[in-house]
Amino acid sequence: MKNLLIVHGPNLNLLGEREPQIYGNDSLKTLNASIECFAEKMGLQVKSFQSNHEGALIDFIHEQRNWAEAIVINPGALTHYSYALRDSIAAVNLPSIEVHLSDVNQREEFRKISVIKDVCEKQISGLGKEGYLRAVEYLVGLDVLNKLQGSNPDSKGRDETLRMVVKLLKESFPKYSWVGIYLVEGAELVLHNYMGKPSPHTRIPIGQGICGAAVHEKKSIIVDDVNADPRYLACSIETRSEIVIPIMSGNKVFGEIDIDSDLEAIFHDSDQEILEKCAAVLAKLF
Ligand code: SME
Repeated sequence: MKNLLIVHGPNLNLLGEREPQIYGNDSLKTLNASIECFAEKMGLQVKSFQSNHEGALIDFIHEQRNWAEAIVINPGALTHYSYALRDSIAAVNLPSIEVHLSDVNQREEFRKISVIKDVCEKQISGLGKEGYLRAVEYLVGLDVLNKLQGSNPDSKGRDETLRMVVKLLKESFPKYSWVGIYLVEGAELVLHNYMGKPSPHTRIPIGQGICGAAVHEKKSIIVDDVNADPRYLACSIETRSEIVIPIMSGNKVFGEIDIDSDLEAIFHDSDQEILEKCAAVLAKLF
């Protein structure tokens, strides 16, 4: 996935002037610059567009349908009633995410209805500018997942697939400074493959470290500040946060995906969601 559309609907041209207590102080130009800069760092090319006219938005989506591979759309108030805009998103059949700066579910009743959301992968609302950035990351994550599923993991074989997923994740997310997979061997986790700086922790007893805790508890763990977590086993002094996702089927854990970042509090629900979907694909190989 390389080519991304950012589409803004009615009234978003007035961002920064219009009810800043609700929509923030960024102008549309600043907002687009932030999204474009973020997406470009993830290796994407972006085309941004805003219109106050339903038909112009639909024309733009149609015109770009052969270039674009994904869409992030803030439909503004069209969210709540534009079946035509909804149909245009369905028609081009590109993975799309609906974004709102404010939390539309905590405002007037009419804003709780979205006729767009069913044709999108998800709705992200109330996170301000950050919502667009999360949407971009989620679309990149879906692309990783599609590549993993499309690589025919069954015939490729387990070792190769485990190496492929590490490479795909490391290369797709600049914020992931270390990506590795550990496999359960008896009472230990053994490092299978990784990308990033070498780790001293090639074998971790289950129950120790954040890695061992995730397997022991059979659940994903996000640590926003590793230095404040007594369980943390240091891999690099630059690491600030970590996410660990068990590879499991039913109650049986086969291994885990472990990811470190040099940025604090950088892992979100959307990382967890995508990584759990990847782990579910990997679990079928055991
Ligand atoms: N930090 C992990 C150990 C593995 S390294 O991060 C690669 C932990 O606390 O379990």
